[in-house]
Amino acid sequence: NSKVPASIVIFGAGGDLTRRKLIPALFNLYVEGYLPPLFRIFCVDYVQQELNLFRESLRTGITEFSRNGAPSADKWTDFSERIDYISGDFLQRTTFLALKQGISGFEKSVRKRGTRLFYFAISPRFIETVAHGLYTDQLANRDNADRLVIEKPFGTDLASAKTLNKYLLARFTEKQLYRIDHYLGKETVQNIMAFRFANYVFEPLWNKKYIDHIQISVAEKVSVGSRGGYYDGAGALRDMVQNHLLQLLCIVAMECPGAYEAEVIRNAKTKVIRDIRPMKSAQVSRQVVRGQYKGYRQEAHVSSASTTETFIAAKIFIDNARWKGVPFFLRTGKSLEKQSTVIIVQFKDSPHKIFRDDIVPNRLIISIQPELEISLLFESKVPGLQMKLQPVEMDFTYNESYSTRPIPEAYEALLLDVLKGDATLFMRADQVEAAWKAVMPILDSWKKQARNGLHAYVPGSWGPAAAKTLLHPHSSDWILLP
Ligand code: BG6
Repeated sequence: NSKVPASIVIFGAGGDLTRRKLIPALFNLYVEGYLPPLFRIFCVDYVQQELNLFRESLRTGITEFSRNGAPSADKWTDFSERIDYISGDFLQRTTFLALKQGISGFEKSVRKRGTRLFYFAISPRFIETVAHGLYTDQLANRDNADRLVIEKPFGTDLASAKTLNKYLLARFTEKQLYRIDHYLGKETVQNIMAFRFANYVFEPLWNKKYIDHIQISVAEKVSVGSRGGYYDGAGALRDMVQNHLLQLLCIVAMECPGAYEAEVIRNAKTKVIRDIRPMKSAQVSRQVVRGQYKGYRQEAHVSSASTTETFIAAKIFIDNARWKGVPFFLRTGKSLEKQSTVIIVQFKDSPHKIFRDDIVPNRLIISIQPELEISLLFESKVPGLQMKLQPVEMDFTYNESYSTRPIPEAYEALLLDVLKGDATLFMRADQVEAAWKAVMPILDSWKKQARNGLHAYVPGSWGPAAAKTLLHPHSSDWILLP
């Protein structure tokens, strides 16, 4: 761990993200010795709270949500004593002055101007207000030490994302901005880079010559639950596709970067998104299926006439030399049969058949969650006196290969990267804008015909049947882990 002291500030500390993800992640980093010996956590929120009660709510949050369960008493005591709570309105300057006083007091006590990390765990409508407060009172004025972590959604369309980037970049440098997409911090997602670029055996096959199509499926069992207020204005395309699914697509489809370095990797990813073929309005109705689960309109804070999609499946193409003509099928939805995030690389059929049995073409299955595994499907001879074939699997599972368990959570990896100043797994301004640009034709087309083509589906099913037809003739269905 670094010896440089760190002030970690969480705006919106009264919210769910802090209790469920941020504090459990910081606590695990602390226990495992990844935080600097000198650090202080400043939690800022509008709500008035008594410090001890607030700390207690964080402790129960760790018990409930941390991969390691309840914190040990001595570790927790030491950790919790470094947590401060500042209640204040983001619209009031006094909030930022109180925070400034807190940070300066800490830095004076340790006799060093340290790293300052400002986490925006707030509703997007406050991003500019908080950024302005930090700027006006010069809380984040060192571009090599002060970092702002901005949660998604980053804008609601291309125009608003551009405006937000402009606003932030007028006050801070790109180097200070960490636009987070927690999918990039997932262990299994990071492993795709290793799989593709540290194993030369797959690289020659990774192109239109050998690959028939790719499926990226992020199925969720959960419904919108209590998040209707946010979700009804967003929908699956904005909530999942513009960020998480396109990022998965980037990692699967990018060229091998020249080095494992933030700028080089981010250049390679941005290039993939820019190469996505823009859809014309008529293509949207053919290549995109949207659905809404039955009962969604009765969820809390959801409009009773809502046309927001809770499911989307899309067929997209990447127009470059590697991928020309290879369809990428993306799918995500809520209230589906089960949680399953998988990437399927479906190889082509062999051009020449010498066996009588039908052959299932090779398939690589990268399972991101809940199972953590990679398997390769191939044909094998069934033992016996006849030449009979059957597909079998070659499996790599984390459980069998590694004893590290449970593996670190995405937020642990990402918070540690911010403290180290490593932006590799974060979104650059141009990446976010390119991703918005890629989905804009779909948003625009839907805006014109809000109700047309919105399929209702039964909660607990696999979504609208039309999502299956979309795969034709490449696959008869979305492929899951066998
Ligand atoms: C969030 C979305 O970014 O990702 C949620 O806003 C979604 O709607 C969540 O449920 C999924 O994340 P994970 O890590 O549970 O797959």
